[in-house]
Amino acid sequence: MNNIVSPQFDAQGRLRHLLTLDGVPAAEIEALLAAAEPLIATPGVAADYPAALAGRTVATLFFEPSTRTRCSFELAAKRLGADVVHLGAAGSSAAKGESLADTLYTLEAMNVDLLIVRHKESGVCEKLAALAGPQTAIVNAGEGRTDHPTQGLLDALTIARRKPDFAKLGIAIVGDIAHSRVARSAVTAFTALGATDLRLVGPTAWLPEEPPFAAAKHFTRLGEGIAGADVVMALRIQKERMNSAELPDSSSYFENYGLTEARLAAAAPDALVMHPGPMNRGVEIDDEVADGWRAVIREQVRNGVAVRMAVMMRLLENRADREEVLV
Ligand code: CP
Repeated sequence: MNNIVSPQFDAQGRLRHLLTLDGVPAAEIEALLAAAEPLIATPGVAADYPAALAGRTVATLFFEPSTRTRCSFELAAKRLGADVVHLGAAGSSAAKGESLADTLYTLEAMNVDLLIVRHKESGVCEKLAALAGPQTAIVNAGEGRTDHPTQGLLDALTIARRKPDFAKLGIAIVGDIAHSRVARSAVTAFTALGATDLRLVGPTAWLPEEPPFAAAKHFTRLGEGIAGADVVMALRIQKERMNSAELPDSSSYFENYGLTEARLAAAAPDALVMHPGPMNRGVEIDDEVADGWRAVIREQVRNGVAVRMAVMMRLLENRADREEVLV
């Protein structure tokens, strides 16, 4: 790992920030998933988490709406003993024109250790990482259409716990892949873990060919794309990243690509159904599937808290090993 040149690795090749899964070695992804596994909560059971972030401060800076990712980071940080502050575009001094760089410097002056950032523009987290002091780690919580690394990790963990051999899996991703940071990070993680049978299913305009999708097969018919698939992941139609001409008609979209029990008969009998959320029921997926026995959608959410704990612990462990920040 020592030869990796990337803004998210330190001089020793360890994760310094988490900006993207692109270029993260399989061993690092596997280590994060292994670290997350014992942190997965059992419903109804009071958990005994390590106080690994006691005395640390985590700031969540969300400039786009979020339920899962924001709550998940906040719960993950609090369960590990951190102090947590939240800033959004509307309630912060960003609304008065303060730059992101000045927001970073302001939070650093308050001794923030981890800055969790969601933004509509790709590249924002990398810019913040370049400006951050040695004590601060930046975590991308979803930016633009390019990266949502902790979502990719939680999706990989959810599959790995049920079907651990990625090399043997047919994984179909259905819907608006073109605008999806979830799909990019998920495919990057699945490929690193050995997946080769990756299928993109949707209208032609939503089936990208560039990396990380270069090796994926394209299907415009749902039945063909999910035939025999072990995992079927539906995506949200990301209207906020489309112009009005690109917006599909919801009912014809559901007719062609909505997941129903009848259509899932084409997939493997024990196929997992995933969705990163938020779901548009009756458009991307019907109620019977979303709440049915194949769906692991709430497992994805549960595993997400553990993955975010593991990521934050990892970044702070790596920081503790860098002498320059200990002065
Ligand atoms: N999956 C996901 O990123 O959901 P939120 O937008 O609710 O965080």
